[in-house]
Amino acid sequence: LTTIREIFRNRDAYIGQTVEIGGWVRNIRDSKTFGFLVVNDGTYFEPLQVVFHDAMSNFSDICHLNVGAAVIVKGQLVATPKAKQPFEIQADTVEIEGASTPDYPLQPKRHTFEYLRTLTHLRARTNTFEAVFRVRSLIAYAIHQFFQERDFVYVHTPLITGSDCEGAGEMFQVTTMDLNNVPKTEDGKVDFSEDFFGKPTNLTVSGQLNGETFAMAFRNIYTFGPTFRAENSNTTRHAAEFWMIEPEIAFADLQDDMELAESMMKYVIGYVLEHAPEEMKFFNQFVDKGLLERLEHVRTSDFGRVTYTEAIELLEKHNDEFDYKVSWGCDLQTEHERYLTEKIFKRPVFVTDYPKDIKAFYMKQNPDGKTVAAMDMLVPGIGEIIGGSERENDYDKLLTRMKELGLKEEDYSFYLDLRKYGSTRHAGFGLGFERCVMYLTGMGNIRDVIPFPRTVNNCEL
Ligand code: 4AD
Ligand code: MG
Repeated sequence: LTTIREIFRNRDAYIGQTVEIGGWVRNIRDSKTFGFLVVNDGTYFEPLQVVFHDAMSNFSDICHLNVGAAVIVKGQLVATPKAKQPFEIQADTVEIEGASTPDYPLQPKRHTFEYLRTLTHLRARTNTFEAVFRVRSLIAYAIHQFFQERDFVYVHTPLITGSDCEGAGEMFQVTTMDLNNVPKTEDGKVDFSEDFFGKPTNLTVSGQLNGETFAMAFRNIYTFGPTFRAENSNTTRHAAEFWMIEPEIAFADLQDDMELAESMMKYVIGYVLEHAPEEMKFFNQFVDKGLLERLEHVRTSDFGRVTYTEAIELLEKHNDEFDYKVSWGCDLQTEHERYLTEKIFKRPVFVTDYPKDIKAFYMKQNPDGKTVAAMDMLVPGIGEIIGGSERENDYDKLLTRMKELGLKEEDYSFYLDLRKYGSTRHAGFGLGFERCVMYLTGMGNIRDVIPFPRTVNNCEL
């Protein structure tokens, strides 16, 4: 079988030739002596029109097909210069592989994303989702290629852990205990010694701490895997299960970290523009007008840089426009992040040196005693897409900070060891993969860039 993508790409070689395609019927029209099938095979979001006629022995079966049926079509590809489609197949045969029923939920009309979210198992058959998930696949590949070309080692960090990297307590617990009959210790607490691992465990919120151990062996590493957060926020940019890319670089500081993040984003943008031009044009036309121009600009210009303190000064001038007013010390909300990147900088921007009290325990403390060497990359349409920092590499400072935050030394002894045996400055960041896909496609809801999304009250399929 030929693919429709191949036919569209090399149309000159195929026109006049006999082709055979396998795909699903998107639409069907028939009259007494002939009819049209619109067939899509998932390789390209433009369907191919197929003309069939009553000389075929199964003509009436074809006429009775429902939308969604699977067919194999063989026939000549002919140019149709006057029609909307540049060519069509004049079928010799139409084999019916699998019929469909009249209640097929994807009838030929425009469906809303909300409706399609109720059809997780079928929505990949629509043009938009076909393009989204193909581009998602390409972005993953581009990210691996970026790091592999630079000799970074890909580390598989565990999904089940005993630590809370971000210290935010937003973890899904992992247990084999019968929750209706939990073993208790004498003082009435849950007895985890009876549990599978003999201690409390959870799904990882980040591979960073494990990643750092490998950076102290290989210098430059990255992780790329699923992470889990039980954040009770029902927003368009939060999922309970999402993928994160976390590079970690040794003998490197915050500046190196930002340079890496900026070149990675530019590389990935360039990659999808080059390898998915049709899909990107499609998004530009139907999902987010101006996307291509914006990405092209981002790819070729410097990202903005501003400290948290400067950002607060800029934002305070617009406090009357915000639901949540800013002042030094507060965490930036999505509305503030978007204002900074969309209205003030009009391009991606790094915000650096956040107050230590709103950031994780592992971030390197700045000499001012108040801020840490952190960076977030904010992009238009989304806000935070990357969070990173230089790491505290001083044993005593790290231990003091951990104690201040109530972290148990014994749970992190491995992490402290890295500061004992050949500690060096190092830095890293986490890119939210789904937010990256949103940014590059213009899709507005994280539920629409994950094949099978998990969000609050939603774990279908
Ligand atoms: O800023 P975060 O929490 O940073 C970390 O986890 C660090 N350990 C990363 C590191 O330095 N190695 O998360 C990193 C990114 C965010 O910027 C965001 O893009 C994404 O992960 N993210 C989410 N994406 C979807 N749904 C959620 N609930 C997310 N939480 C974070
Ligand atoms: Mg963050």
